[in-house]
Amino acid sequence: KNSIQIAIDGPAAAGKSTIAKLAAEELGFTYIDTGAMYRGITYKALERHIDLENEEALTQLLLETLIELKPSNEGQLVLLDGDDVSDAIRSTLVTSSVSAVASHASLREEMVKRQLKMAESGGVVMDGRDIGTHVLVNAQLKVFMSATVDERAKRRQLDNERRGIDSDVNQLKKEIAERDKMDSERQASPLIQAQDAIYLDTTNLSISEAANHIIQLAKERM
Ligand code: C5P
Repeated sequence: KNSIQIAIDGPAAAGKSTIAKLAAEELGFTYIDTGAMYRGITYKALERHIDLENEEALTQLLLETLIELKPSNEGQLVLLDGDDVSDAIRSTLVTSSVSAVASHASLREEMVKRQLKMAESGGVVMDGRDIGTHVLVNAQLKVFMSATVDERAKRRQLDNERRGIDSDVNQLKKEIAERDKMDSERQASPLIQAQDAIYLDTTNLSISEAANHIIQLAKERM
């Protein structure tokens, strides 16, 4: 039994994807960024001027949309009907719109179906908001990763800097807190720590320290 399922959840900008990706590489597992899937459909909905409150229209749009996650040197490519939207889905507009789209139960149902299919073969590290609670409910390892809002805003600012985007740390703090509030307070599979998840505070951990911690926990379960 050398391949297990690892579920990583937590609030925005806690370092989940960076750390999950590293751990997956080290373990030889598939990494699945479910946030990128919600971002992808949000991007397409914005392009088409679909009302973000319209659950039926958004779910229909998703049913007609192919979302692919492909490993690449840069980390991961996100393809929407074959088009590379990896950068576009990280825009401020998509980021501030995605929680509204992700609040719809029927859209989430279709997402979970796809995520389960993606996780069918071999070891997997999946990150998101509801992975331990609704997607990989039998995962051998569940981690709930967080850090203080200040630390998360600082990291996001550094991230942005690297991508050539100027940002105000206080504005980022506000945006992150707002998104966490929406994700935690929605009816449909809200962001919450699974009962059997291990809490990991990454505020004072480096990326490699956090990844190594997860790799260690994974090895204990293989
Ligand atoms: O992880 P990331 O910040 O890219 O996620 C973007 C948004 O997608 C989250 O703020 C949340 O609204 C939604 N999401 C979700 N369930 C997941 C993953 C992401 O609702 N499993």
